[in-house]
Amino acid sequence: MKIPGGMLLTGIELDRSSAMPLYRQLYLQVRKQILSGRLPGGTRLPSTRTLCKELGLSRITLLNAFDQLTAEGFLASRTGAGTFVGEDWEGRAAVASAPRKPPRLSSLSQAVHSLRSEHFSGVSYNAWAPDCPTSFLPSHPAYDAFPMPAWKRLMNRHLRKPSKDQLGYGELKGLQRLREAIVEYVFDARGIECSVDQVVITSGAQQAFNLLGMLLLNPGDGVWMEDPGHIAARIAFQALGCRLVPLRIDEQGLDVQQGLRECPDACLAFTTPSRQHPLGTTMSHVRRQELIDWAGRSQSWIVEDDCDSEFRYVGRTLPALYSLDAGERVIYVGTFSKVLYPSLRLGYVILPEALVEPFCAIRAVMDRSPSTLHQATTADFMQDGHFLGHIRRMRNLYQARQSALLEALQRELAGFLSVTPAEAGLHMIGWLPEGCDDDALARGLAEQRIFTYALRDYCIRHYLPPGLLLGFAAIPEGQAARRVEELAQALRALGWRL
Ligand SMILES: Cc1ncc(COP(=O)(O)O)c(C=O)c1O
Repeated sequence: MKIPGGMLLTGIELDRSSAMPLYRQLYLQVRKQILSGRLPGGTRLPSTRTLCKELGLSRITLLNAFDQLTAEGFLASRTGAGTFVGEDWEGRAAVASAPRKPPRLSSLSQAVHSLRSEHFSGVSYNAWAPDCPTSFLPSHPAYDAFPMPAWKRLMNRHLRKPSKDQLGYGELKGLQRLREAIVEYVFDARGIECSVDQVVITSGAQQAFNLLGMLLLNPGDGVWMEDPGHIAARIAFQALGCRLVPLRIDEQGLDVQQGLRECPDACLAFTTPSRQHPLGTTMSHVRRQELIDWAGRSQSWIVEDDCDSEFRYVGRTLPALYSLDAGERVIYVGTFSKVLYPSLRLGYVILPEALVEPFCAIRAVMDRSPSTLHQATTADFMQDGHFLGHIRRMRNLYQARQSALLEALQRELAGFLSVTPAEAGLHMIGWLPEGCDDDALARGLAEQRIFTYALRDYCIRHYLPPGLLLGFAAIPEGQAARRVEELAQALRALGWRL
């Protein structure tokens, strides 16, 4: 039962059914009123007798609360005059009612905040309703086809016998067994020869990009970025105060000659050679060699982001840039986000030997290492032979899903969207009619609960026609037609004649 307070102590409500003693409730509420300025310094409180009566409290309860408030300087009693709010609290009301200023943030934080809102001006992560099935967002693998029974069995093996290995801090470089499995995998799949010591596990590729930025870049340093390119990596470098040099993508990949013209002494180049993100181009042999030659000559670094080379449907996957570079200028970054699932937050960096120790020093102050349980489960998944089978199955599944979605899009939206199949990866680009504002369209579609990203979000300079990224990996074949119908309906609702 709650009993309201008296005249001066309006707002005080004591809950007699609470486990908290009444004197404590009274103490907390009077203190709150003083701190908020509602009871200003110097205010005279009613006599204890009046208060006891108004609040329905015994004198001892009231005195307990007031003694504590007095001891802490909130109240003061003057002989013969009564009890007052301490003079130190004078002017508190003005402070409390002053409009709240935004918090003072570091320039790094301000940069990240404004860059993120600038780049995700179309559909942000926040706008995406995770329960919405009508999503064409890229970068989502087939959650419905993940081999959960095998994964659970492997994880349970560790959970059944909890030990320091699973529950304690992990090795700074990451679990040795997982690093061994990665060394074997990248040799086989990507032609990379490296030692276990050169591999460091990170919390996803994104942490690797941030750590590499901190390791290698200073404010003002030039950084070659693919344009369009991976937004989150770009923000990581830009927030450090680097000077981005946007380089066009043509049918051979990143335009190295443009980089040489505009900023030959850049410190770092960021690239996605096996499947250019987001356009899907594969970097040609010639470009690869040009890039490696430049890095060797200028002693610059190349960060090779290889996030989904496992999923190639046409042609052969070319060996990683890392495997072509004898000069130790390439840093390879891989991830399990697409090949397994993104919330696993496991990625890895393969570093030239000279960078291993400095990288680990930064790694140590960030977050030590990712969950050892998940690292151990991933190592088992790879070493017990599930991994390669999963990749093969997903490649077939994604190819079938892409065909189904492409067919539905061509049937329903041929006059509006021009879509060519993706040779690799998890999304296609739907090119829009000239003059269409892809950002505004993506925003409009999101209001109709249909989620895609505008190509414009990925661009620094705007030289490309408008387009939408259309993820297909998470759309079951049987749902493709319905999802495209819903997309068409939403477009009509936005005023487009199809
Ligand atoms: C181009 C690119 N690189 C890397 C990643 C993986 O990032 P993470 O490992 O942090 O999930 C993504 C994820 O969407 C991506 O699109």
